Amino acid sequence: MTKSANTMWGGRFAAGPDAIMEAINASIGYDRRLAPQDIAGSRAHAAMLAATGIITDKDAEAIREGLLTVLSEIETGDFPFSTALEDIHMNVEARLKEIVGEPAGRLHTARSRNDQVAVDFRLWVRDQCDQADEALAALQKALLGQAEAGADWVMPGFTHLQTAQPVTWGHHMLAYVEMFARDRSRFADARARMNTSPLGAAALAGTSFPIDREMTAKALDFDRPMANSLDAVSDRDFALEFLSSASICAMHLSRLAEELVIWSSAQFRFVKMSDKWSTGSSIMPQKRNPDAAELIRAKIGRIFGANVALMTVMKGLPLTYSKDMQEDKEQTFDAADNLMLALAAMTGMVADMSAQVENLKAAASSGFSTATDLADWLVRELGLPFRDAHHVTGSLVAMAEDKGCDLPDLSLADMQSVHAGIREDVFNVLGVENSVASRTSFGGTSPENVRAQVAQWKEVLG
Ligand code: ARG
Repeated sequence: MTKSANTMWGGRFAAGPDAIMEAINASIGYDRRLAPQDIAGSRAHAAMLAATGIITDKDAEAIREGLLTVLSEIETGDFPFSTALEDIHMNVEARLKEIVGEPAGRLHTARSRNDQVAVDFRLWVRDQCDQADEALAALQKALLGQAEAGADWVMPGFTHLQTAQPVTWGHHMLAYVEMFARDRSRFADARARMNTSPLGAAALAGTSFPIDREMTAKALDFDRPMANSLDAVSDRDFALEFLSSASICAMHLSRLAEELVIWSSAQFRFVKMSDKWSTGSSIMPQKRNPDAAELIRAKIGRIFGANVALMTVMKGLPLTYSKDMQEDKEQTFDAADNLMLALAAMTGMVADMSAQVENLKAAASSGFSTATDLADWLVRELGLPFRDAHHVTGSLVAMAEDKGCDLPDLSLADMQSVHAGIREDVFNVLGVENSVASRTSFGGTSPENVRAQVAQWKEVLG
C-alpha cells in the first residue's frame, strides 16, 4: 500500500516516502528534546504576528494556549510522537491543529523550519552553557574545599611524572580551580556571542510580511536579531563554540581524572576515594577501583568526537540550509549529557576524597626534591653563580645516591667535602616544609600564598 503524502507539503506529492526514506529523514527520535524551546519560539512568533496585525489576536491567543496544552502533553508523556511527521516542529504543529483547528495553520506565516530549528537549537545550547557554568562552579567549590583543608600539606610536584619539587596540596587543587575558571569564561564568551536571534529569517531570504524581529528576539531573551537572513539559517557556530569549549573543559576533567587514577593506586596512595565513588572487584577482594575517574577519562572522547563530527558536517556546506545540518543535534546532545555527568561525578569524587597526608609528605621528601633549594642556598648565601651551584648540588645528589640516603641525611662534613663553604644552616632549606614555605613569589606554592588565593576564590565563588 502506498502511503499518503505528507499533509505539510502534500500539495504537489502523489505518494508518501519509502520506509527507508522516512527512517533516514526523521529526527523526531532525538529532536523531541527541543520541544520546550520549539514551543517557546512558536509562542513568541505568534504573539509577534498578532502585534504586527499579520494574524488576529484571537487566532494568536488560540495558538498560544494550544501550544501550552501541547507542552503539557509532552511533559506528562502523553504526546503521540510520529515518525511520519519527521521532526519536533511538524509534530507540534500537527497536534496543535488537532487541538485548536484552523488557527494552527496560520502559525507558520512568515517563518520556515529553517529559522525555527536554528532558534530552537540555539536556545537549547544557550541553556547548556548556563548549566555548564553552574556545574563548573560546584566543581570549583569542591576543589576549593580541598585547597583550604590542605593549604600546607606537602606533596611532590612533578614534571615528566618524576618528582621535581615539593608543592602544597592546596596549590595543586587551586591549579584546577584556575583551569575550570577559564572553562567558565569560554562558555560565557560563547554564550554572549550566540545570543542573537535567527527567528524571522524565514527560509533564507527574510519575508515580505511586516514582522518585528526585535520583538521576538526580546521575548526569547536574545540581545538582538541576527542581521543577515542567510547567515541566520546557516550558522551553527554556536554549537561548535559550545562543543569546543566543552572539549577543552573535558580535557581538563580528563587530566584530573588521570591524576586521581594514579594517586589512588597502591603504588602512590596519595588519596583514598570514598566508598561512594569506588567499586570493588568480583574476584580480587583487596581492590578499590576508581571507575568514575576512568569513565570520565574515557567519556571525553565522545565530546571531542562530537566537535570533530559537527565541524566535518559544516565544512563543505554551501549557504544556506542543507539537510546535513540536521546531524548537528544528536551528537551535541550526547556531548552535553556526558559533560554534565562527568562534571557531577568529578565534583562528587573531589568533595569526598581524602588526601593521605603522611604518604604525600613521604613521597615529597624522596627523590632529592629539595635539590633546587640547596642550589638556591649556595647562590644566596655563598654568592655562587647558579650554574656552579647546580654543579655542586649535582655532586651532592650523586653522593647521597651512592650512600643510599636523601640530601638532608648527608653530614655537614660530607657536604663540605664537595664545597668547603657550606654551613650548618643549609639544613634549614633541605626540609620539604621549608622548601614550600620559601616559595612566596607571586603564584608560588607557599602555604601563605595558597591561603591568600583560597580567600580570594571564596569571595568569587561565594
Ligand atoms: N529537522 C530539521 C533539522 O533538524 C528541521 C529543518 C528542516 N528544514 C528543511 N528545509 N527541510 O534540521
